[in-house]
Amino acid sequence: MDFLWYDEAIWNKDGDDEMVLNFAHRGSLTEAPENTIPAFQKALERGTKAIELDVQLTKDKQLVVCHDHKLTRFNKSSTTLIKDYTLEEIKQIDISGSFKDKYSGTTLPTLDEVLAICPKSILLNIEIKNIPVIYEGIERLLLDKLEEYNRLDQIIISSFDHVALKNVQDLNPSIPLGLLFHYRILQTWNYAENSDLNVYSIHPNHVYVDQEFVTKCKGKGYKVFPYTVNQKERYEELVEYGVDGVFSNNPDIFV
Ligand code: G3P
Ligand code: CA
Repeated sequence: MDFLWYDEAIWNKDGDDEMVLNFAHRGSLTEAPENTIPAFQKALERGTKAIELDVQLTKDKQLVVCHDHKLTRFNKSSTTLIKDYTLEEIKQIDISGSFKDKYSGTTLPTLDEVLAICPKSILLNIEIKNIPVIYEGIERLLLDKLEEYNRLDQIIISSFDHVALKNVQDLNPSIPLGLLFHYRILQTWNYAENSDLNVYSIHPNHVYVDQEFVTKCKGKGYKVFPYTVNQKERYEELVEYGVDGVFSNNPDIFV
């Protein structure tokens, strides 16, 4: 597969196979509440070229950016599922969590808010956060939103829910798809090839990625972006294997 957007807009060079492009995972989450506007701003200020974020839907079908299906980790008094809050209700909830001294009052951002602050030159990996909640219809709402912001380039849509990725493909076959894998499965590269998906990249949990894994995936023509790689030594090992980039919480890696 040949994505000119990738080489020209981000890497702007020949021989991209030698290049590594790292994603700020949920923004710069060691510096501000994860997946919030301050976290994305911090990542941008540091000069990241790529950002990963998670999307879900509120009760009134608004796209919001959050990893967990509940906000309890950030605000103990909030125990309701995101899918059962309206956007107006969810915007009342402070999710500054452990950053409350500096970022008190921070709320869950809508995808609109994030798209509005991310320059088009930034590669966005938007993860559809299905399972255990499955957001029926999120694929169309997401693609419509990206179209509204003229943001169908410089994008990878990923998910652990590969059926959601098939739904994305059925709606728009030209979107680069990232197959996420938490557990090790047999011959991931063959699974990807047989999946009936236009897989652009494989996004494995980094703990089981080795030389064979990278070689086999790349041999099938897939980019490999392991998550979540925070230790410099492990990062360097993965780069030696030939990964195309990683998702990282560590600014020393994602910049
Ligand atoms: O997309 C990479 C990574 O974010 C997947 O795992 O649980 O952090 O969303 P998780
Ligand atoms: Ca994610």
